[in-house]
Amino acid sequence: MSTLLTLTDIHAGYGAVPVLRGVSAHVGATESIGLFGPNGHGKTTLLRTVSGLMAPSTGRIQFDGQDITGAPPSDIVGLGLVHAQQGNTLFGDMGVAETLELSAFVKRARGGAKAALDQVYALFPRLAERRRQLAKTLSGGERQMLSIGCALMCNPRLLILDEPTLGLSPRLKQELAEAIGAIGKTGIPLIVVEQDVQFLLALTDRLYLVEHGEIAREIDAANAPDHQEIMEMYFGGAQE
Ligand SMILES: Nc1ncnc2c1ncn2[C@@H]1O[C@H](COP(=O)(O)OP(=O)(O)OP(=O)(O)O)[C@@H](O)[C@H]1O
Ligand SMILES: [Mg+2]
Repeated sequence: MSTLLTLTDIHAGYGAVPVLRGVSAHVGATESIGLFGPNGHGKTTLLRTVSGLMAPSTGRIQFDGQDITGAPPSDIVGLGLVHAQQGNTLFGDMGVAETLELSAFVKRARGGAKAALDQVYALFPRLAERRRQLAKTLSGGERQMLSIGCALMCNPRLLILDEPTLGLSPRLKQELAEAIGAIGKTGIPLIVVEQDVQFLLALTDRLYLVEHGEIAREIDAANAPDHQEIMEMYFGGAQE
């Protein structure tokens, strides 16, 4: 399988505080990846670094053979590496349809905007029902759907989702899981962060455990250890 995204020895942090301490990882062109690990250990920081929202202090990021280290987020989105922002509130005073349509601003998305909109409404019928509603009046779960919908409107080649089901009821979580599974089945590789490892095992091919800003373990979803063992890895790291 060819490699779509390669991270080599990434270090990044906030001011003088280091968070990522040498992350190397990859995503194949036809696979989806899950990230899990204790709170505050650097998952979101890693995603923000990949999508250009922050620059690594050292290390290299390659996407589809191009070096994108330090590239501005707009260029990175333009290449099709799209990070769905959590609870997208940017366009709160705009309607759902308008927000989605405006998200197809990147060159690679323009021609297919109509088909992408149909795809988003098919995946999320709740958004179709609320297409004329103001984005700021959506519920948390609907807002999460809108955020993923906006990312899909960019015609992604790799889609990044950071805790897409955070704070949602079990029923909505299931709805989101089905939609994310359906997106994966269309052939778009995903990077998904979730605390719920079973959720990730069902949706992705490979998992990375992020601990203390490093990749502590790699797990093949097809040969995953049992639940108990995964929980020990998880909480073992959290207690250190
Ligand atoms: N903007 C910021 N300024 C300073 N420190 C930050 C900032 N954002 C995150 N941090 C710190 O960086 C560390 C890693 O945070 P990060 O959000 O990447 O963790 P995470 O693994 O995504 O956690 P969670 O599971 O809670 O979402 C934490 O110690 C956090 O306090
Ligand atoms: Mg996070």
